[in-house]
Amino acid sequence: MTTPVKSCEAFAPATVANVSVGYDNLGFALNTIGDRVRVTRTDDKEVTISSIAYESYLDESNVGTLPTDPLQNTASIGLLKFIKEQRLSFGFDLEITKGIPIGSGLGGSAASSVAAIVAANGLLQNPLEKKDLLVYALEGEALATGAHHADNVGPCLFGGMTLTPAGSDSIVHIPFPKKIKVASVFPGFRLDTKKARSVLPTSIELHKHTVASGRLGAFIASCHSEDLELMKGSLVDDIIEPARAPLISGFEQVKQAAMKAGAIGCSISGAGPSVYAFGLNAEIEPIAAQMKAAFEESGHPQVLAWTSKVNLEGAKLI
Ligand code: HSE
Repeated sequence: MTTPVKSCEAFAPATVANVSVGYDNLGFALNTIGDRVRVTRTDDKEVTISSIAYESYLDESNVGTLPTDPLQNTASIGLLKFIKEQRLSFGFDLEITKGIPIGSGLGGSAASSVAAIVAANGLLQNPLEKKDLLVYALEGEALATGAHHADNVGPCLFGGMTLTPAGSDSIVHIPFPKKIKVASVFPGFRLDTKKARSVLPTSIELHKHTVASGRLGAFIASCHSEDLELMKGSLVDDIIEPARAPLISGFEQVKQAAMKAGAIGCSISGAGPSVYAFGLNAEIEPIAAQMKAAFEESGHPQVLAWTSKVNLEGAKLI
């Protein structure tokens, strides 16, 4: 007779959402930092959070204070739905280790939510496929941002570059050229996602929509064809980026530094304040260094920078 598993831990990677041209639709996973959640089976049909810790490269100013109320934490809220819909006769206790700074624009809410549901599914010997976990992970994203968009949750769960068309529950997996890496740079201050969403226009002119949808199509085509000129020309956002840039002091300087150093594209990561750039593998380190320096020169003393391939694995049990 096999002994039931009592405890399981999962890792979920940081993600970059929007990717300049796919607001609330497009995102990709990073091979750098992520969140871990250990799930332990408990007798009551409840979710508790017994600890929240931080990876050593983060300090209190990077992470703030996270709620331990299961209705307020993005790691636990999806598990409450999971217990109910899967008719479980038991509950879970969570030990969360944050590796993604809170309010950084690197998909921390999604990662905690995804890690928790992947760990819980693992504890149950994986009865659900990844695609069936999406609905539970989205509960955490809705709590954090006020909307059920899967542009962080999709790539966090599956890895790679994904398009999750708003208003549908399908996930489109998009190939990404191996010759390109990503620089992601966090300026060290927190930007609330709800605030970053509140500054966006509620309507746009038809002409802007026409230009933007052409760029999204061209970007996706360039991922397939590996046409870097087409990619560079398409990674332009004149709807979301201009509205949010004033919330990120130094953004224009960081973008200029990235493009001058040879970036293929550069914009705000998710809701910000982090900034991402694509560059050829051999050029990504100097691009990241120039972006970090530009943020520091703009008055941010605690900048963290990473370079990475696009993570093709997504969340996993550890
Ligand atoms: N697509 C989202 C936004 C990502 O830009 O607000 C953050 O949840």
